[in-house]
Amino acid sequence: MDAMLAGNGTGDETPLRVLAFSGSLRAGSYNAALLRAAQELAPPGLAMTIYDSIELPMFNEDVEARGDPYQVADFKAAIRAADVLLIATPEYNYGIPGVLKNAIDWASRPAGRAPLNGKLAAIIGASVGIVGSARAQLQLRQAFTFTNTLAMLQPEVLVSRAHEKFDSEGRLSDEPTRSFLRRYLGTFHGWARGIMQGALIAR
Ligand code: FNR
Repeated sequence: MDAMLAGNGTGDETPLRVLAFSGSLRAGSYNAALLRAAQELAPPGLAMTIYDSIELPMFNEDVEARGDPYQVADFKAAIRAADVLLIATPEYNYGIPGVLKNAIDWASRPAGRAPLNGKLAAIIGASVGIVGSARAQLQLRQAFTFTNTLAMLQPEVLVSRAHEKFDSEGRLSDEPTRSFLRRYLGTFHGWARGIMQGALIAR
């Protein structure tokens, strides 16, 4: 797709602060590895921090009413401090993992003033199956409708057969995927910068 959203082209902008997190808690997670690759391949205009773990207590309105648990407060503060989000999700049973939905539920509160409200995002994902987390990504987009989180529509990063694309050290070794991810991050940078500057140029 040719639609692009451009920055002012001067190249002197402060890098956008990107908060990246994975929907998998697994030590050898392909999605966590995909974020590490994104950090390596990102253009200078994206300063990426990978959030360690989104393993938060289960959302419960009674707990919330007593005050956010410290893990939740930390996660929500990290989202607020970021300009944009980069989320890598696995697909569990055609949807997003419960741990990711739980984190989204916490970060969707309080409604209207939530950390996710108005935030720009990119959704990527990897799975060992052939659709590369496509159904999970759609489910995340659905949740983002309610949280008012604006996720870039195209292009999409769907890393299928992930076990063939990463080496035993968890490095993204597949060259076409590396090259695509590099271009994707460049597009994401331009898209986010363009929206933040109110300079939408889409054809
Ligand atoms: C899976 N997996 C999977 N894959 C897929 O393409 N579609 C699916 O619906 C599912 N469902 C599913 C459910 C559960 C409970 C597990 C544990 C796994 C396989 C999944 O893509 C694979 O385990 C990935 O490697 C998970 O991502 P991480 O942990 O490597 O980031």
